Amino acid sequence: MTQIVSFAGSGSGLGALHCAMLDAFSDYIVPLQPDSDTFKAALSARNFDPEASFVAVEDDDVIGFWNVATRGTKRYLIGSGTRIGHRGRGLASRLGMAAIHAAENVGIESFWLEVIKGNTGAERLYRKLGFDVARTLDCYRLDHPAPDRSSCKLSDFSTVADVIQRYSTWEPAWQNTTETISGLQLTSFLHEEGGAIIGAGGLVHQIAASEPSALEDLLAAAATAGSLTLVNVDSADSALCSLLQALGAHRFIVQSEMRLSLPNVS
Ligand SMILES: CC(C)(COP(=O)(O)OP(=O)(O)OC[C@H]1O[C@@H](n2cnc3c(N)ncnc32)[C@H](O)[C@@H]1OP(=O)(O)O)[C@@H](O)C(=O)NCCC(=O)NCCS
Repeated sequence: MTQIVSFAGSGSGLGALHCAMLDAFSDYIVPLQPDSDTFKAALSARNFDPEASFVAVEDDDVIGFWNVATRGTKRYLIGSGTRIGHRGRGLASRLGMAAIHAAENVGIESFWLEVIKGNTGAERLYRKLGFDVARTLDCYRLDHPAPDRSSCKLSDFSTVADVIQRYSTWEPAWQNTTETISGLQLTSFLHEEGGAIIGAGGLVHQIAASEPSALEDLLAAAATAGSLTLVNVDSADSALCSLLQALGAHRFIVQSEMRLSLPNVS
């Protein structure tokens, strides 16, 4: 018999969750097969909450999961999946409902997730559970031949995070928030005209500036890995999106950020 239980109460370990994740994502829309350490680090950086997360267990095996994070009164779906041989039996629906009820019961105000445009099965499921699209997030890859730091200087993370907050017109998605990235090995640059970028190993986590020309300089300063990847740029940021397109960046994924507002049941 299949049981839907919280991860904390399931008696399962992160190893079993990792195995289930690898199987559920083996036919995913983009390749996603992290090794065990990367999987655990990603959960931890995003504030994985074992009490808020739910698994489907059959014969001591995890066959489906909703991995959920908590920050204050917000919850976030880090990842959900059902092992290939167990799909279409309503497991993801039951896991989602269990996670939403658990959130309601502890006074959570909103539940967030991202879904890749084109993952129609998952998007239909989230809509069925009551989620609506809050905004569109774009992912870009930009080839950058050589770094140019002439108008930028290296700076510390907290200074740069403050500058980005001053210039940014939108909140970073969960995986790029200051809280998620603060444990990473980051490289941060300040622009002399106002603006900043925070990156790590060719990934740009946050960027904002007063002028498009400063954005361009910041991208050039951060271009140490030959190419830059920007995951989850708010598509409403027309200055950054137009610049990236003008620089020839390739938009390789479009995501919908979805939100479920929960009633206050207390
Ligand atoms: C998406 C996924 C989790 C659904 O798991 P599942 O246990 O088969 O889902 P359910 O049986 O509960 O179906 C729930 C709903 O999802 C939708 N759905 C699921 N698979 C679908 C498909 N292939 N095509 C269309 N709709 C689909 C349907 O709305 C379905 O409800 P319905 O049967 O009442 O119409 C599973 O296909 C999966 O693991 N995919 C790969 C990983 C992934 O994409 N995760 C989501 C990342 S955002």
